[in-house]
Amino acid sequence: MMQKNTGIQVYIDDCVKKYGTVTYNMKGMYAPQGFKSGQSLFITERDFAEARELARQKSEYLLSSADSSENGKPDSFLDLRDGGTDTEGEPGKPVMTGWLSYAGETLTHEKFLQDLKQAGDRIARDFSAFVVIGIGGSYTNIEGIINASYPSGTRIPFYFLGQHLSAERYKKIFSELSQMNKKIAVNVISKSGTTTEPALALRLVLDKLNSMNKLGAVFATTDPEKGALRESAAARGFNPEEYFTDEIKRHFYIRANIGGRFSVITPVGLLPFTVAGIDLNALLSGYHYAMDSLKNLAADVAACKYAAYKKGAVNAILSYNVACFREKILGFRQLWPECNGKDGKGLNVMEEFYTSDAHSNGQLIKSGIKNSIEIFHFIQNLGVDFTIPASDYNNDKLNVIAEGAKNPLTLHTINNRFMAALLLDHWKSGVPVIAVTLPSLNPFSIAMQMGVEHYGAALFGLMLGINPVNQPGVQGYKEIAFKLLGMKGEGLLEESLKELKNLGLDAL
Ligand code: PA5
Repeated sequence: MMQKNTGIQVYIDDCVKKYGTVTYNMKGMYAPQGFKSGQSLFITERDFAEARELARQKSEYLLSSADSSENGKPDSFLDLRDGGTDTEGEPGKPVMTGWLSYAGETLTHEKFLQDLKQAGDRIARDFSAFVVIGIGGSYTNIEGIINASYPSGTRIPFYFLGQHLSAERYKKIFSELSQMNKKIAVNVISKSGTTTEPALALRLVLDKLNSMNKLGAVFATTDPEKGALRESAAARGFNPEEYFTDEIKRHFYIRANIGGRFSVITPVGLLPFTVAGIDLNALLSGYHYAMDSLKNLAADVAACKYAAYKKGAVNAILSYNVACFREKILGFRQLWPECNGKDGKGLNVMEEFYTSDAHSNGQLIKSGIKNSIEIFHFIQNLGVDFTIPASDYNNDKLNVIAEGAKNPLTLHTINNRFMAALLLDHWKSGVPVIAVTLPSLNPFSIAMQMGVEHYGAALFGLMLGINPVNQPGVQGYKEIAFKLLGMKGEGLLEESLKELKNLGLDAL
């Protein structure tokens, strides 16, 4: 790990003083007193101690294999020791753990961060909107962090494309963009540069904006050396000099040793964030704090999940009650299954928006099959709130919490009490629960929690004996799709259309 830089440390200490830290309360992973059920997923002290020991071993291993050099050692690979996909390793491939040290290192690149901030301010001034194109790890946390940081909207509107092929959404976005006064900036993000959904989006977006005479600057965030996007970026005039100083260019790429779902702390997220107005130093500091000081916490949380998984948990339900946190939760839903769903193993991850879903899935979680643990995400201070007006019509009996009452409650407090009620109810009904609390929705705390999740997800995979940083399963549908699109030749097209026909799906 890198040497401590005093200036950065002072800044981080100030952020901790100002915002506090993220907490994970795991007491609800144990059974409530008097709870009777032979088959429950609740863990015991012994389960936890065993899982914790494994987590600590894997944590030590993860750190020992960590490689902060940009491209990894030529013969390094993730050796899983006890079996799994990459037991033989892949010599020549870097160990994908660059994210462990990236935020700390980048905080020392002061000029890069300053120049990027200036570029972000300028882009926000020059253009009417910013279109981000990407999918999976090259997308989810960007929207997640922007929405959580700016619930009422950013200084210029953001649009996200490339993460689906849904024509009606394209139409809606193109129609909105056509109404804008100034030109539109575009940021295409793809490490491989060959992912089909963003590649299609780039073609469509460039074509449409050109035909509206609204195409502004185009930025490409990709691999430093290879890939379709890197090869064509310069010839197409992407990353124009007027916005990108030499210092930005020096660092503006996705390192070989950082995989998609860990990459939002790199230029993948840094450019959109600075255009949105997010403080990059605060964001990187929060993430760095997690890598520096919360690894044991992440290991303990992973141990609790692993112990419940061993008892039969198949789902981790991510519950939250603040609407602007949804896309951030979707970032965790992207992270965990893509890290851990391999070799017939892994925890399924679901999202649950309360109190809305208390009126749907809540029924199943409480009273249906018990195969889930539930992780509740509380935001302590939302920074926006409402008092409840008193009413002459008190048939709903709410005057007791309204203005003028002895103990009036605000909307956000009521929201948190409701989610606390769901936590208690589900726990008492046999669901192991964890309560995560973020002090507020600021970049420092949001990135800190994301760091804990990144570290925990990687560790959980190692505990399962799989490689958490690859995603071999994603290739399957692509291969079939390429055949169905005719990209692999007439013969394979015919063959795969026939397969569909045999299933009665020939109308597609
Ligand atoms: O986490 C991952 O590695 C994936 O979700 C990738 O981010 C996703 O497949 C997009 O890949 P790329 O950035 O190469 O277009």
